[in-house]
Amino acid sequence: MRHEAFEHFFDEGLVEAHLKPLKHGKEASVHLFRADPRTTGEELVALKLYHPLDRRDFRDETLYRDGEFIKERRMRVALEHKTRYGRELQGSLWVGREWETLKKLDGGVGVPRPIEATQDAILMSYIGDEDVPAPRLHEYRHDDLDELASLWEQLHRAIERMLYRDVVHGDLSSYNILVWDGAVTLIDFPQAVDPKKNRHAQSFLERDVCRLGEHFERRGLHRPWQRIAHDLWTAWLFADLVPEELRGLTT
Ligand SMILES: Nc1ncnc2c1ncn2[C@@H]1O[C@H](COP(=O)(O)OP(=O)(O)OP(=O)(O)O)[C@@H](O)[C@H]1O
Ligand SMILES: [Mg+2]
Repeated sequence: MRHEAFEHFFDEGLVEAHLKPLKHGKEASVHLFRADPRTTGEELVALKLYHPLDRRDFRDETLYRDGEFIKERRMRVALEHKTRYGRELQGSLWVGREWETLKKLDGGVGVPRPIEATQDAILMSYIGDEDVPAPRLHEYRHDDLDELASLWEQLHRAIERMLYRDVVHGDLSSYNILVWDGAVTLIDFPQAVDPKKNRHAQSFLERDVCRLGEHFERRGLHRPWQRIAHDLWTAWLFADLVPEELRGLTT
């Protein structure tokens, strides 16, 4: 399968062969490629290819874009009026935001390593092996309660680390988390928001934590989810007042 949107990645010598499509989502399809390890540092990579604009299921952007100022008037008007140009712009803002967020989180928070992006696709490290991609937390079968608790602890720490890098996922659920070799990887960031800018960030954080909470509750792990979300937010809010050595990221 040779898709026009793949060409750039072949031309740049990053990928060598398209192995198979992995998933077809609401906004994008994800494909497995054999990579050139000399240019990417990986044997296998995942390419997330956003659907053409007319087939993308756009969510209501306004809450997510809160606090982001678009300098150019022409762009602002187009976005407001959802013109053809506005939709195109929205599409590339979407891909751009996922790319910028992956770069911000790389090395420190468990996310795929971003390698290269175009207007409509992102090349990143692949989680899984040649036979099977990493299962999503949603379909992952844990061994026992200890393992379940460890998965949650990892996620708690990841959400906290993201927050300190000014990122709230905004669409976190058991569908956007991969589990491989006992470790979690967070994916799917186009709607991520900056808690320093977006006035809805705290409610996004709370929704992220509580939605994961519902997943863990169903599997028998009980935690005070609402309070955890609240504590994460307040600790982050006051972090500037506390010296870094004393901050003690909850472990
Ligand atoms: N780096 C990766 N390694 C392995 N699998 C991945 C990777 N990135 C994405 N996937 C797989 O592709 C699926 C879709 O990716 P993603 O969630 O980013 O796109 P999406 O269009 O928002 O999908 P959805 O509508 O299902 O949320 C994921 O659920 C996951 O199974
Ligand atoms: Mg997804």
